[in-house]
Amino acid sequence: MTQLSHDELVELERIAIESALEAAELVRQRPDDLGIEVKSSRTDVVTLVDAASEKLLVQRIRELRPQDGFYGEEEADTRAQSPLTWVLDPIDGTVNFLYDYPLYAVSVAVVEGDPRIPGQWRPIAGAVADVPAGSVYHARTGGGAYLRRDGNDERLSVTGSSDLGTSLVATGFGYDAQKRGRQARVLMHVLPQIRDIRRGGSAALDLCHVAQGRLDGYYEMGINPWDMAAGWLVLTEAGGLATGAHGAPPSSECVIAAGATLHPALAELVQDGLQHF
Ligand code: IPD
Ligand code: CA
Repeated sequence: MTQLSHDELVELERIAIESALEAAELVRQRPDDLGIEVKSSRTDVVTLVDAASEKLLVQRIRELRPQDGFYGEEEADTRAQSPLTWVLDPIDGTVNFLYDYPLYAVSVAVVEGDPRIPGQWRPIAGAVADVPAGSVYHARTGGGAYLRRDGNDERLSVTGSSDLGTSLVATGFGYDAQKRGRQARVLMHVLPQIRDIRRGGSAALDLCHVAQGRLDGYYEMGINPWDMAAGWLVLTEAGGLATGAHGAPPSSECVIAAGATLHPALAELVQDGLQHF
Protein backbone atom coordinates (compact mmCIF):
# COMPACT_ATOMS: atom_id res chain seq x y z
CA MET A 1 0.00 0.00 0.00
CA THR A 2 1.13 3.53 -0.79
CA GLN A 3 2.44 5.67 2.04
CA LEU A 4 0.51 8.92 1.97
CA SER A 5 1.50 11.77 4.24
CA HIS A 6 -0.91 13.23 6.78
CA ASP A 7 -1.25 16.36 4.62
CA GLU A 8 -2.03 14.32 1.50
CA LEU A 9 -4.75 12.40 3.34
CA VAL A 10 -6.24 15.63 4.70
CA GLU A 11 -6.28 17.04 1.16
CA LEU A 12 -7.99 13.91 -0.26
CA GLU A 13 -10.63 14.07 2.47
CA ARG A 14 -11.18 17.76 1.75
CA ILE A 15 -11.69 17.04 -1.97
CA ALA A 16 -14.15 14.24 -1.12
CA ILE A 17 -16.15 16.51 1.21
CA GLU A 18 -16.25 19.51 -1.10
CA SER A 19 -17.12 17.58 -4.26
CA ALA A 20 -19.81 15.55 -2.45
CA LEU A 21 -21.36 18.74 -1.07
CA GLU A 22 -21.31 20.45 -4.46
CA ALA A 23 -22.97 17.45 -6.13
CA ALA A 24 -25.49 17.27 -3.26
CA GLU A 25 -26.44 20.90 -3.98
CA LEU A 26 -27.09 19.98 -7.61
CA VAL A 27 -29.21 16.97 -6.57
CA ARG A 28 -31.17 19.14 -4.13
CA GLN A 29 -32.26 21.45 -6.98
CA ARG A 30 -34.38 18.62 -8.38
CA PRO A 31 -35.69 19.64 -11.83
CA ASP A 32 -39.40 19.10 -12.61
CA ASP A 33 -38.53 16.59 -15.31
CA LEU A 34 -36.21 13.99 -13.76
CA GLY A 35 -35.68 12.26 -17.13
CA ILE A 36 -36.30 8.78 -15.73
CA GLU A 37 -34.91 5.74 -17.53
CA VAL A 38 -34.77 2.09 -16.49
CA LYS A 39 -31.55 0.07 -16.03
CA SER A 40 -31.31 -3.61 -15.00
CA SER A 41 -35.06 -4.07 -14.35
CA ARG A 42 -38.29 -2.04 -14.37
CA THR A 43 -37.69 -1.10 -10.74
CA ASP A 44 -34.05 -0.03 -11.26
CA VAL A 45 -34.17 3.57 -12.45
CA VAL A 46 -31.71 6.28 -13.28
CA THR A 47 -32.47 9.98 -13.71
CA LEU A 48 -30.82 12.86 -15.53
CA VAL A 49 -29.77 14.07 -12.09
CA ASP A 50 -27.73 10.91 -11.39
CA ALA A 51 -25.84 11.49 -14.65
CA ALA A 52 -25.35 15.22 -14.01
CA SER A 53 -24.15 14.60 -10.46
CA GLU A 54 -21.57 12.04 -11.57
CA LYS A 55 -20.37 14.33 -14.38
CA LEU A 56 -19.88 17.16 -11.92
CA LEU A 57 -17.97 14.93 -9.49
CA VAL A 58 -15.62 13.66 -12.20
CA GLN A 59 -15.03 17.18 -13.55
CA ARG A 60 -14.25 18.71 -10.17
CA ILE A 61 -12.00 15.90 -8.96
CA ARG A 62 -10.19 15.50 -12.28
CA GLU A 63 -9.21 19.20 -12.28
CA LEU A 64 -7.36 18.58 -9.00
CA ARG A 65 -6.27 14.95 -9.47
CA PRO A 66 -5.65 14.30 -13.20
CA GLN A 67 -3.67 11.08 -12.61
CA ASP A 68 -6.25 9.31 -10.48
CA GLY A 69 -8.77 6.80 -11.82
CA PHE A 70 -12.58 6.96 -11.64
CA TYR A 71 -15.16 4.26 -11.06
CA GLY A 72 -18.77 5.37 -10.77
CA GLU A 73 -22.26 3.93 -10.80
CA GLU A 74 -23.29 5.62 -14.05
CA GLU A 75 -20.55 6.03 -16.66
CA ALA A 76 -17.24 6.79 -15.00
CA ASP A 77 -14.66 4.06 -15.57
CA THR A 78 -11.14 5.37 -16.10
CA ARG A 79 -8.03 3.43 -15.16
CA ALA A 80 -5.69 5.20 -12.75
CA GLN A 81 -2.22 6.44 -13.62
CA SER A 82 -1.62 6.80 -9.90
CA PRO A 83 -2.30 4.35 -7.04
CA LEU A 84 -5.66 6.05 -6.38
CA THR A 85 -9.17 5.67 -7.80
CA TRP A 86 -12.25 7.74 -6.96
CA VAL A 87 -15.31 5.58 -6.41
CA LEU A 88 -18.51 7.54 -6.94
CA ASP A 89 -22.19 7.06 -6.26
CA PRO A 90 -23.81 10.22 -7.65
CA ILE A 91 -27.12 9.41 -5.93
CA ASP A 92 -27.31 6.51 -3.51
CA GLY A 93 -30.96 5.92 -2.82
CA THR A 94 -32.19 6.76 -6.31
CA VAL A 95 -35.63 5.27 -5.65
CA ASN A 96 -35.96 7.48 -2.55
CA PHE A 97 -34.88 10.45 -4.66
CA LEU A 98 -37.56 9.58 -7.21
CA TYR A 99 -40.26 9.70 -4.54
CA ASP A 100 -38.67 12.58 -2.62
CA TYR A 101 -38.44 10.19 0.35
CA PRO A 102 -35.75 11.94 2.40
CA LEU A 103 -32.97 9.34 2.51
CA TYR A 104 -30.53 9.75 -0.35
CA ALA A 105 -26.92 10.73 -0.58
CA VAL A 106 -23.89 11.46 -2.74
CA SER A 107 -21.02 9.13 -1.92
CA VAL A 108 -17.41 9.96 -2.84
CA ALA A 109 -14.46 7.82 -1.82
CA VAL A 110 -10.85 7.60 -2.85
CA VAL A 111 -9.45 4.09 -2.69
CA GLU A 112 -6.15 2.28 -3.03
CA GLY A 113 -6.13 -0.78 -5.27
CA ASP A 114 -8.61 -1.72 -7.97
CA PRO A 115 -12.24 -1.33 -6.85
CA ARG A 116 -13.32 -3.62 -9.74
CA ILE A 117 -11.64 -6.59 -8.03
CA PRO A 118 -13.29 -7.79 -4.80
CA GLY A 119 -10.92 -7.76 -1.85
CA GLN A 120 -8.23 -5.82 -3.77
CA TRP A 121 -9.00 -2.32 -2.62
CA ARG A 122 -9.65 -0.25 0.46
CA PRO A 123 -10.96 3.29 0.99
CA ILE A 124 -8.55 5.86 2.40
CA ALA A 125 -10.73 8.99 2.45
CA GLY A 126 -14.37 9.61 1.75
CA ALA A 127 -17.54 11.60 2.25
CA VAL A 128 -21.24 10.80 2.17
CA ALA A 129 -23.39 13.92 1.73
CA ASP A 130 -26.90 13.39 3.11
CA VAL A 131 -28.80 15.50 0.58
CA PRO A 132 -32.12 16.20 2.37
CA ALA A 133 -30.37 16.78 5.72
CA GLY A 134 -27.73 19.11 4.21
CA SER A 135 -24.98 17.40 6.23
CA VAL A 136 -21.93 15.33 5.33
CA TYR A 137 -20.29 12.30 6.95
CA HIS A 138 -16.55 12.14 6.34
CA ALA A 139 -13.41 10.26 7.27
CA ARG A 140 -9.82 9.57 6.32
CA THR A 141 -7.65 6.67 7.42
CA GLY A 142 -6.53 7.18 10.98
CA GLY A 143 -8.34 10.51 11.32
CA GLY A 144 -11.63 9.49 12.93
CA ALA A 145 -15.14 9.80 11.50
CA TYR A 146 -17.21 12.96 11.64
CA LEU A 147 -20.60 14.38 10.76
CA ARG A 148 -20.41 17.98 9.56
CA ARG A 149 -23.62 19.95 10.19
CA ASP A 150 -23.86 23.73 9.90
CA GLY A 151 -20.08 23.91 9.59
CA ASN A 152 -19.42 21.99 12.84
CA ASP A 153 -17.78 18.58 12.99
CA GLU A 154 -19.20 16.08 15.46
CA ARG A 155 -17.11 12.95 16.12
CA LEU A 156 -18.91 9.68 15.46
CA SER A 157 -18.76 6.40 17.31
CA VAL A 158 -20.68 3.17 17.01
CA THR A 159 -22.94 1.82 19.75
CA GLY A 160 -21.35 -0.52 22.28
CA SER A 161 -24.12 -3.08 21.80
CA SER A 162 -23.18 -6.71 22.07
CA ASP A 163 -26.68 -8.13 22.41
CA LEU A 164 -28.21 -9.20 19.14
CA GLY A 165 -31.69 -9.50 20.65
CA THR A 166 -31.87 -5.75 21.35
CA SER A 167 -30.06 -4.62 18.22
CA LEU A 168 -31.57 -2.42 15.54
CA VAL A 169 -30.29 -3.65 12.20
CA ALA A 170 -30.74 -2.31 8.66
CA THR A 171 -30.64 -4.20 5.42
CA GLY A 172 -31.51 -3.64 1.78
CA PHE A 173 -32.73 -5.43 -1.32
CA GLY A 174 -31.46 -5.48 -4.87
CA TYR A 175 -33.42 -4.85 -8.06
CA ASP A 176 -33.47 -8.45 -9.29
CA ALA A 177 -36.68 -10.26 -8.26
CA GLN A 178 -35.02 -13.64 -7.86
CA LYS A 179 -32.22 -12.26 -5.69
CA ARG A 180 -34.82 -10.47 -3.58
CA GLY A 181 -36.50 -13.79 -2.87
CA ARG A 182 -33.29 -15.08 -1.31
CA GLN A 183 -32.73 -11.81 0.55
CA ALA A 184 -36.23 -12.14 1.99
CA ARG A 185 -35.54 -15.71 3.12
CA VAL A 186 -32.32 -14.64 4.86
CA LEU A 187 -34.27 -11.81 6.49
CA MET A 188 -36.84 -14.30 7.80
CA HIS A 189 -33.98 -16.02 9.56
CA VAL A 190 -32.51 -12.77 10.95
CA LEU A 191 -35.64 -10.88 12.01
CA PRO A 192 -36.79 -13.07 14.95
CA GLN A 193 -33.31 -12.76 16.50
CA ILE A 194 -33.01 -8.95 16.63
CA ARG A 195 -34.90 -5.93 18.02
CA ASP A 196 -36.16 -4.83 14.62
CA ILE A 197 -35.19 -4.23 11.02
CA ARG A 198 -34.90 -0.99 9.03
CA ARG A 199 -34.81 -0.64 5.24
CA GLY A 200 -33.62 2.89 4.62
CA GLY A 201 -32.94 2.65 0.89
CA SER A 202 -29.37 4.00 0.83
CA ALA A 203 -26.54 1.63 1.69
CA ALA A 204 -24.10 4.53 2.05
CA LEU A 205 -26.33 6.16 4.68
CA ASP A 206 -26.99 2.81 6.38
CA LEU A 207 -23.24 2.41 6.95
CA CYS A 208 -22.93 6.00 8.20
CA HIS A 209 -25.90 5.47 10.52
CA VAL A 210 -24.15 2.49 12.09
CA ALA A 211 -21.07 4.72 12.49
CA GLN A 212 -23.25 7.33 14.17
CA GLY A 213 -25.00 4.91 16.52
CA ARG A 214 -28.41 5.43 14.87
CA LEU A 215 -28.32 1.72 14.06
CA ASP A 216 -26.46 -1.14 15.74
CA GLY A 217 -25.76 -3.00 12.54
CA TYR A 218 -26.36 -3.41 8.82
CA TYR A 219 -26.01 -6.24 6.36
CA GLU A 220 -26.81 -6.64 2.70
CA MET A 221 -26.08 -8.96 -0.17
CA GLY A 222 -25.52 -7.54 -3.65
CA ILE A 223 -24.35 -3.96 -3.15
CA ASN A 224 -21.63 -2.41 -5.31
CA PRO A 225 -18.27 -0.81 -4.48
CA TRP A 226 -19.72 2.70 -5.00
CA ASP A 227 -22.52 2.02 -2.48
CA MET A 228 -20.10 0.99 0.25
CA ALA A 229 -16.70 2.65 -0.32
CA ALA A 230 -17.10 5.89 1.66
CA GLY A 231 -19.52 4.49 4.27
CA TRP A 232 -17.18 1.58 4.99
CA LEU A 233 -14.38 4.00 5.94
CA VAL A 234 -16.71 6.24 7.99
CA LEU A 235 -17.83 3.13 9.88
CA THR A 236 -14.30 1.83 10.47
CA GLU A 237 -13.10 5.21 11.67
CA ALA A 238 -16.03 5.29 14.11
CA GLY A 239 -14.85 2.05 15.72
CA GLY A 240 -16.95 -0.34 13.64
CA LEU A 241 -16.17 -3.29 11.48
CA ALA A 242 -17.36 -4.19 7.98
CA THR A 243 -16.61 -7.59 6.49
CA GLY A 244 -18.03 -10.05 4.03
CA ALA A 245 -19.16 -13.49 5.16
CA HIS A 246 -16.63 -15.55 7.18
CA GLY A 247 -14.26 -12.61 7.65
CA ALA A 248 -13.73 -11.96 3.93
CA PRO A 249 -13.40 -8.31 2.88
CA PRO A 250 -16.76 -6.61 2.24
CA SER A 251 -17.84 -7.22 -1.34
CA SER A 252 -20.81 -7.36 -3.68
CA GLU A 253 -21.57 -10.79 -2.30
CA CYS A 254 -22.10 -9.64 1.25
CA VAL A 255 -21.45 -6.79 3.66
CA ILE A 256 -21.90 -7.22 7.41
CA ALA A 257 -21.34 -4.05 9.42
CA ALA A 258 -21.60 -3.32 13.14
CA GLY A 259 -19.73 -2.06 16.16
CA ALA A 260 -16.82 -4.35 17.02
CA THR A 261 -18.70 -5.83 20.01
CA LEU A 262 -21.77 -6.83 17.99
CA HIS A 263 -20.09 -7.82 14.73
CA PRO A 264 -19.25 -11.46 15.61
CA ALA A 265 -22.86 -12.29 16.59
CA LEU A 266 -24.40 -10.47 13.61
CA ALA A 267 -21.93 -12.13 11.24
CA GLU A 268 -22.78 -15.55 12.60
CA LEU A 269 -26.50 -14.94 12.24
CA VAL A 270 -26.23 -13.66 8.65
CA GLN A 271 -23.82 -16.42 7.63
CA ASP A 272 -26.19 -18.98 9.06
CA GLY A 273 -29.04 -17.46 7.06
CA LEU A 274 -26.96 -17.49 3.88
CA GLN A 275 -26.04 -21.10 4.41
CA HIS A 276 -29.63 -22.24 4.82
CA PHE A 277 -31.16 -20.26 1.99
C1 IPD B 1 -29.16 1.09 -3.83
C2 IPD B 1 -29.26 1.52 -2.38
C3 IPD B 1 -30.09 0.54 -1.60
C4 IPD B 1 -29.55 -0.85 -1.67
C5 IPD B 1 -29.39 -1.29 -3.11
C6 IPD B 1 -28.53 -0.28 -3.88
P1 IPD B 1 -28.95 2.99 -5.70
O1 IPD B 1 -28.34 1.97 -4.57
O2 IPD B 1 -28.01 1.65 -1.79
O3 IPD B 1 -30.17 0.87 -0.22
O4 IPD B 1 -30.42 -1.72 -1.00
O5 IPD B 1 -28.76 -2.55 -3.09
O6 IPD B 1 -28.43 -0.69 -5.22
O7 IPD B 1 -29.45 2.13 -6.82
O8 IPD B 1 -30.02 3.76 -5.06
O9 IPD B 1 -27.78 3.83 -6.08
CA1 CA C 1 -26.04 3.15 -4.88
